[in-house]
Amino acid sequence: MKSLAQRAASRLRRSLGGRDYDRFKGSYPDYDSALAAVGRERLAGYNHAAVAPVSYELMCRTELWDYPVLFWLERVLPDTNRIIDAGGHMGTKFRAFSSRLIFPESLDWAVCDLPEIVKQGRAQAEADGLSGISVHAGPEEIPPASVLLASGLFQYLDEDPGPYLKRFVSQPVHAVINKVATRDAEEVVTLEQFPGAEIPYRIRNRQVFERSLTDAGYTIIDQWEIASLSHTHPAFGKSTSRGYYCRLGS
Ligand SMILES: C[S@@+](CC[C@H](N)C(=O)[O-])C[C@H]1O[C@@H](n2cnc3c(N)ncnc32)[C@H](O)[C@@H]1O
Repeated sequence: MKSLAQRAASRLRRSLGGRDYDRFKGSYPDYDSALAAVGRERLAGYNHAAVAPVSYELMCRTELWDYPVLFWLERVLPDTNRIIDAGGHMGTKFRAFSSRLIFPESLDWAVCDLPEIVKQGRAQAEADGLSGISVHAGPEEIPPASVLLASGLFQYLDEDPGPYLKRFVSQPVHAVINKVATRDAEEVVTLEQFPGAEIPYRIRNRQVFERSLTDAGYTIIDQWEIASLSHTHPAFGKSTSRGYYCRLGS
């Protein structure tokens, strides 16, 4: 039975848009401090078989914020026979987008993810009889590709985007990046609450993020804000979810 104070607190949380304030816990200066603060009885980070099914069905949907991604992917598709899907989970966006984009028969949708997610992703692709998809555990494993998609990766990646993009066998010419949590103030890292797990979640400084892309040779051709994924959190203040289309060169 909840006390009066607990009931008032949950009413307040609900009136603030509840779910998201329960979704994040703590505020840390960097990724490693957040990881070190994960409770002992909880799994730490994304790289666990038990974490793979979390939100899988939801992520296989095409949401409103995916349409700028579809817009740019459709334009760059003729330039490539391989799309790298960095942080592509178990091929969620391949599944979502295959009824909305016309993929050439020779297209390889190359998912790049963490080893435990990769294992589950390969098994799921085989069980579903998916063709046109390959699943890899690191940038260095993937043959050259001119197009990279990173949808929902950069909240979780302990690297800046420029150095990360340079780790691929050849640096992708086109980078379509979506759902980056940003703020104008200094970066904060919090712990996203998953069932049985806590995942370091970076709310990046916008200027640092964008400078990392331009330092790696990219021009930001287009960017968009995703109002429905942006928040004003009582502890971290305002954050804005953003997407980008970047091209190597000017
Ligand atoms: C929220 S999911 C995004 C899934 C999908 N791309 C989407 O937009 O719905 C974040 C993904 O990033 C992956 N990830 C986290 N750290 C990573 C890393 N160091 N390298 C590759 N993938 C990583 C996670 O395993 C997870 O699959």
